[in-house]
Amino acid sequence: MNPSPPLPLLCPVCGAPLSPLEKMYGCANGHPFNIAKEGYINLLLSHQRKSRNPGDDADMVMARRRFFDSGAFDPLTDLISSFPVFNQKGVSVLDCGCGEGHLLGALSERHEGFFCGVDISKKAVQLASKRHKQATWIVANGMRELPVADSSMNVILSILAPRNIAEFSRILKPDGALLIGVPGPNHLIELRKQLQFSSGDFKEKADEAAAKCAPQFIETNRDLLSYEQPLCQEQIADLTQMTPIFWRSSLEAKAAVMTLDQLAITISFTLLTLKRSSL
Ligand SMILES: C[S@@+](CC[C@H](N)C(=O)[O-])C[C@H]1O[C@@H](n2cnc3c(N)ncnc32)[C@H](O)[C@@H]1O
Ligand SMILES: [Zn+2]
Repeated sequence: MNPSPPLPLLCPVCGAPLSPLEKMYGCANGHPFNIAKEGYINLLLSHQRKSRNPGDDADMVMARRRFFDSGAFDPLTDLISSFPVFNQKGVSVLDCGCGEGHLLGALSERHEGFFCGVDISKKAVQLASKRHKQATWIVANGMRELPVADSSMNVILSILAPRNIAEFSRILKPDGALLIGVPGPNHLIELRKQLQFSSGDFKEKADEAAAKCAPQFIETNRDLLSYEQPLCQEQIADLTQMTPIFWRSSLEAKAAVMTLDQLAITISFTLLTLKRSSL
């Protein structure tokens, strides 16, 4: 973890700025937060979670890590990383619902600035902080008050994660960019068919995501990324495990999918870029 982040984090107890101290962060009102051995800080207060281990569990997080490591989502990482917003000198980026940190980690290695990943899953943040030392990693509930200062971020990323529009609007600089990633046309259609899920209307989902950001945000750009990816048996198993909608599929359908040696699937994302409106 960066020992002296140039951007203020906020104490989740009292809202005062958090400063790095020896082996911990603390605020002026004496609330201490230890830096874990992996390098992350846990700012999730017990009343901000509904269960002991909220968010993606260890099996899902490990499946997501292996799937990312297999390279199957590299085109997504490369596309997002090529967005000009990341070339601003000293760019500040918050990834809310960052998972095991693959995307933010890659951004922090390719660009100069302050990179902060937040997830409610401790296991996910542990993995992220173990691997990517240039970034700051925080356990927090992205759907409650985020422990990040007002108007402090140039970019907020929300990729396949829950969105807190009121907090994003508070945290983003007036000229900042909110990047939202949702499943694109025919995303995983072959696996959805195998697991007996309807595909839904993907255009409608992207429109709905943009509409829910109003009136605080207006959409300025929409990118579509779509490619066919051949998967081996391990990748099929990992993708099935890490994708929440597939939990509801029947045991028989899941067992049948696990016997496949390979499957070519469509991977597709819609990336929305939004700006703060002048309201
Ligand atoms: C589908 S994963 C996406 C992870 C990452 N953005 C990626 O693309 O690999 C959704 C993530 O959102 C996290 N999450 C769910 N609810 C959350 C909340 N209230 N606050 C923060 N993170 C949350 C989960 O733990 C999980 O890591
Ligand atoms: Zn405090």
